[in-house]
Amino acid sequence: MTETLEIAFTVNRRPTRLSVRADQRLLDVLREQLRLTGAKEGCGKGECGACTVIVDGRAVDSCLMMAYQADGAALETIEGLADGDRLHPLQEAFIDEGGVQCGICIPGMILAAKAFLDRAPSSNEAAIREGLAGNLCRCTGYTKIVAAVAAATRASATAVSRPAAGGGVAPGSCRPRSLEAALEILAERSQQARPLAGGTDILVKAKDGLVPRAALFDLTQVPELAGIEDRGDHVWIGAASTHTQMLESPVVARHAPALPPACAVIGGPQIRNRGTLGGNLANASPAADTVPPLYVADAVVEIASISSRREVEITRLFTGPRKSVLEADELILGVKIPKRAGVRGAFLRLGQRQAQAISKVSVAVAMATDGGRPSWVRVALGAVAPTVIRAPEAERALMRGGEEGLRAACAAVRQEVQPIDDLRSTREYRREMAAVLLERAVRQVWRAHA
Ligand SMILES: Cc1cc2nc3c(=O)[nH]c(=O)nc-3n(C[C@H](O)[C@H](O)[C@H](O)COP(=O)(O)OP(=O)(O)OC[C@H]3O[C@@H](n4cnc5c(N)ncnc54)[C@H](O)[C@@H]3O)c2cc1C
Ligand code: FES
Ligand code: FES
Repeated sequence: MTETLEIAFTVNRRPTRLSVRADQRLLDVLREQLRLTGAKEGCGKGECGACTVIVDGRAVDSCLMMAYQADGAALETIEGLADGDRLHPLQEAFIDEGGVQCGICIPGMILAAKAFLDRAPSSNEAAIREGLAGNLCRCTGYTKIVAAVAAATRASATAVSRPAAGGGVAPGSCRPRSLEAALEILAERSQQARPLAGGTDILVKAKDGLVPRAALFDLTQVPELAGIEDRGDHVWIGAASTHTQMLESPVVARHAPALPPACAVIGGPQIRNRGTLGGNLANASPAADTVPPLYVADAVVEIASISSRREVEITRLFTGPRKSVLEADELILGVKIPKRAGVRGAFLRLGQRQAQAISKVSVAVAMATDGGRPSWVRVALGAVAPTVIRAPEAERALMRGGEEGLRAACAAVRQEVQPIDDLRSTREYRREMAAVLLERAVRQVWRAHA
């Protein structure tokens, strides 16, 4: 029988205590137990944003979060926005601008907009579109929606008070509170239990019936997996760090400069707010966007089981598409990135569209210089071989410096990639684009060094 857990949180500022089943998503509990039906199930896979709610100030897809993961959090749903009869400025603006186009998507759009406005109010169209990139409309388009958010930004330039979190009652076996407890679960049940971090991949598989939700246990309360730290000669990024946390970290920007631009293009805001580094690595996808930046940072992955700990160079972690050296009883703890003075980097990718799309080709470059000449160069490419690869010939050419070195590097990279034809792209297109993106990325790095 599926375990039942007690959880406590605030929902629209109201303290709430509930019994939930270990296989219920946050969306299920909001709709079925709390009767807050503003959050809708469109796709159930993180693609449409119709289920968006705000958790601790960040927009998330409630279809990709287990209910017990909200224990202790402050939740905001569309039902809590109005103050009695007085609508929230965003609701007013959506009505005034004709932005209320359908009942399925608009609650999620308004909440995504609220999370974005509360944090970084801007009436700039590009910023608004970026803030709404995780929310799809398939009827009318985004013009009136963007106009509504811009109008609300102008109307509501007031300070924001975030609701207090809801205490939390530490639900048992699904939410270990130490690394030892998490590793014990894996040691005892590695054939059945599956780690859950942001859920942006494994809950999509659960939706497809490939993983039972009741088999999951949450890593996000394990302190040993959290945090981004400057540790003297290296930087440590815990496996449970979200893409948003890495994107906002000055330490990451300084010492792994190709990583923030990669985090910035992963999914939409809801995916970045939940998806983690550990989940991205454990997936072992050749298109995983954090991997090329870690290759060019010479990252080392720390891995543990209940009985051992080991370090693996990132270039040796993956053995094929969706395959890695990680054993079923092991967890990724985090990555160590050696510091290198004056390093600059870039990441560029090509996808089907800008947001919510998997890379067809990606390129990361990192470079240090001495007296204006390259003294250390790394190039890595994603989605053009069974795993992410380094491009040693291109690196050697770039060490020569100048336009001639760049031309030779682009020629070399065409030979070094082994792309495949698939639904997203042809082999030849990927080969050509690898060279085009390399040239653009190197020019970005040169400009940063100038
Ligand atoms: C709409 C959408 C868009 C996306 N866009 C992108 C994109 O642009 N680029 C991209 O790279 N990815 C993308 N993804 C994939 C996904 O969001 C990322 O791979 C994300 O980083 C996964 O992290 P997570 O914490 O959500 O993983 P989860 O779903 O929690 O877990 C994924 C896998 O990793 C395992 N795992 C998690 N943490 C650990 C750990 N510490 N140790 C061992 N195993 C662990 C889990 O058991 C599971 O097998 C997208 C997904 C969706 C749904
Ligand atoms: S229902 Fe589509 S993102 Fe959750
Ligand atoms: S607003 Fe729902 S499909 Fe356009």
